[in-house]
Amino acid sequence: MVKPEYYVEHMDLANKNVVCRCDFNVPMKHGIIMDDFRIRSAIPTIQTILSKKPHYVLIVSHFGRPVPGADNTKHSLRFLLPILSKHLNASVQFLERGISNETLYTLQHTTSDEPMIYLLENIRFHAEETAFDKTDNSNPVTTLYKQMGDVFICDAFGCVHRSHMSITCGKRFNKVYGYGHLIKKEMDALSLLTGSAANKKILCIIGGNKIEDKLPIIDSLKTVPHSTIFIAGGLAKKYNGREPNVQTMKDGYGNTEINMTSYPISDIFNSTYNAYDIGEHSLQEIMNLVDAHDIVFWNGTLGIIEHETYKAGTTKLMNYLCARTDKMVIIGGGETASMVPQSLFLGHFYVSTGGGALLEYIENKILHDTLIVGLAIYE
Ligand code: 3PG
Ligand code: MG
Repeated sequence: MVKPEYYVEHMDLANKNVVCRCDFNVPMKHGIIMDDFRIRSAIPTIQTILSKKPHYVLIVSHFGRPVPGADNTKHSLRFLLPILSKHLNASVQFLERGISNETLYTLQHTTSDEPMIYLLENIRFHAEETAFDKTDNSNPVTTLYKQMGDVFICDAFGCVHRSHMSITCGKRFNKVYGYGHLIKKEMDALSLLTGSAANKKILCIIGGNKIEDKLPIIDSLKTVPHSTIFIAGGLAKKYNGREPNVQTMKDGYGNTEINMTSYPISDIFNSTYNAYDIGEHSLQEIMNLVDAHDIVFWNGTLGIIEHETYKAGTTKLMNYLCARTDKMVIIGGGETASMVPQSLFLGHFYVSTGGGALLEYIENKILHDTLIVGLAIYE
């Protein structure tokens, strides 16, 4: 159970300096937001904070995995200003200096009668964000960040599995802290799933990349009773495990000059071919597995969906699942979620804003990682 006293709805925020951590790590192509689901999902919490008449709300997020100190122009959060202003129907001031004396000065000299809305530059520009568990409290960046809020609200479900500064600082800074509507919604929905999943057969389709994140999770999903794991996408090429309840994609379409032919995966493994999309044979195998399971959990696309050509496998599986109203389908991860037709969000689909966070929730580690140790909002 998530503790109700930490819920933003129940908190007194009048005249407070409120920091709100969101997850705006959205899919982008040529500077255009391909799917704003995570942004839209964060708006209710920001609106609730504003309705409580704080002094200001400082919106915080990361975007991508920038290297602190490098030229990170392409990872700036500036692209969020128009969309946030539109959804909040208010102007948002960008704090491009990130965590700095200048930013703190601006925050401390907020004079507006109406609550000000600030957006902090990508918090991962600071090494302290991701290395928070190794950073001491006297670190200059940590010290500055601590002074930026009286209350730290976290609504970044998509990265609640990270013990990063902006996720876990409320507790360590001894501040008032809590969680927002999105975290509540995700927890409520997913605890229903894990509660009822005990006797159900679960098919976990894991695709995409970020193999370093997914390997340990695949290892632990293997131990979930009645589960079958199917590994597809870029992950299949890199995955070497051969376990009884784990299957991998066996054919795929490669990026060769030769016509689009479906290659056996052994060719893909042993050559310079890349599996850019799942092959017909493997796709059929997944569909057969869908038929044989009660719950389908899908994280990560089956091909490179940014390219129209390599989107086919993911689209075909999505269409198949849309028609299977007898199954419960849980979709995690921004890219996979962006393929779900809006009309099905309330149907037999549950679409989570979390990718890795969702996987860790399902394997239960999240309870240890952040919600207990960091946010401490669980009882
Ligand atoms: C995500 O997109 O998975 C979250 O925003 C977390 O990002 P990360 O995997 O880079 O920590
Ligand atoms: Mg992730």
